[in-house]
Amino acid sequence: MRFLVTGGAGYIGSVSVRHLLDAGHDTTILDTLERGHREAVDERARLVVGDVGDVAAVTDALEGCDAVLHCAGLIEVAESMREPGRYFDVNACRPLRMLETMRGREVGVIVFSSTAAVYGEPESVPIDEDHPRAPVNAYGASKLHFEDVLEWFKEAYGFRAVRLRYFNVAGAWPDGSLGEAHEPETHVVPRILDAMASGRESFEVYGGDYETPDGTCVRDYIHVVDLARAHELALERVAGGGQGGVFNLGSGEGFSNLEVVSACARVTGRDVEVEIGPRRQGDPAVLLASNGRAREELEWEARAGLEQMVSDAWAWRQEHPDGYA
Ligand SMILES: NC(=O)c1ccc[n+]([C@@H]2O[C@H](COP(=O)([O-])OP(=O)(O)OC[C@H]3O[C@@H](n4cnc5c(N)ncnc54)[C@H](O)[C@@H]3O)[C@@H](O)[C@H]2O)c1
Repeated sequence: MRFLVTGGAGYIGSVSVRHLLDAGHDTTILDTLERGHREAVDERARLVVGDVGDVAAVTDALEGCDAVLHCAGLIEVAESMREPGRYFDVNACRPLRMLETMRGREVGVIVFSSTAAVYGEPESVPIDEDHPRAPVNAYGASKLHFEDVLEWFKEAYGFRAVRLRYFNVAGAWPDGSLGEAHEPETHVVPRILDAMASGRESFEVYGGDYETPDGTCVRDYIHVVDLARAHELALERVAGGGQGGVFNLGSGEGFSNLEVVSACARVTGRDVEVEIGPRRQGDPAVLLASNGRAREELEWEARAGLEQMVSDAWAWRQEHPDGYA
C-alpha cells in the first residue's frame, strides 16, 4: 500500500515513515519543514514540502495513496495558551481543508495522531477511551476539535478514521539515527538526558507534593517505535476496509518524575541533582492509560519498557548532541 504521512519530517512522523517503509509500504511525506527536519526524511520516501491546508500540495501528495497518517501539528502546551488561535488553525482548520481535499480525491481513510490531553484532569485512572473529554489547554482542545470533525466526516461521508490518543511518547529509532528534536524541548526524558549530557548540576521537577508515592507526577510512557507499529496496524485495518475507532496508546504502567530521573541515571551512568520546583498549572498528579481496547481490537501491545526508551533516546542524544544538522 502507499500511505501519506503528514508531519513525516517530525519526531513521531519520521520514525513511523521508516517503520512503514521497512514493512514494505510506499510512503509519501507532506511537511512544511517548519518544525521538521529534512535530515529526518528517509530517502526511500517521496517528500512534498507543503502545508496540510494547501489544496495543491495535498492533491499532489495524495497521488496514489490508500490512506493518510496525520501526524502534522503544533504540540506545545504553553505556546498553545499564548497563541490559541494559531493552534486551532494549524491543528483543526488546516487539517479540515485536507479532509475536504481527501474527499474530492475519494481517499476517505485516515489515522490521526491525537493525544491524552483531550481528557484533561482525569476523574479516574487508568483512563479509558470513554472517559469524559475535557481538555484544560488550547493544545488539547484543538486536537479534540479535529477528532470531532472526523466523527462528522464519518457520519456524512463514510470516512473511516482511527483516532489514536498517545500518552507520553519517548525513545528513538534504536540505532540512534532518528529521534526527538523539538525547539524548545519540553518533554521530560530528553530534558533529563540533556541535563546529564551537558553536566548541569540540577534538574527541576515541577511539584513534589502530589498525592503519589514519592510526591512527583506519574506519567505513562510509550516508545515511539511501539507507536509506529500501532500506526501500521491501524492503517492496514482502515485501508483494508475495516472500521475506524478511538484507541489509547500507552504502556498502562506509570512512572514518577523521580523514577524517570533514576532510570536515566542507570542508563547513562551519570547523575543530576533533582530540584523540586513549584507545580505547573494544569498538570494532573497521575496520567495512566487503559490500553485494553488497542490490545484487543488492533492486536497491539507496548513492547518496550522505560529503560529501553531511555537507552534509545540516549543513543540518539549521543549520535546527535545538537539535534539534526
Ligand atoms: N510527542 C508527543 O509526546 C506527543 C504526544 C501526544 C500526541 N502527539 C501528537 O503527535 C503528532 C506528532 O508529534 P511530534 O512530537 O512528532 O511533533 P513534531 O513537532 O516533531 O512534528 C510535527 C511535524 O509537523 C509538521 N507540521 C506542522 N504543521 C504543519 C502543517 N500545517 N502542514 C504540514 N506539516 C506541518 C512540522 O514541520 C513537523 O515536522 C502531533 O500531532 C502531536 O499532537 C505527540
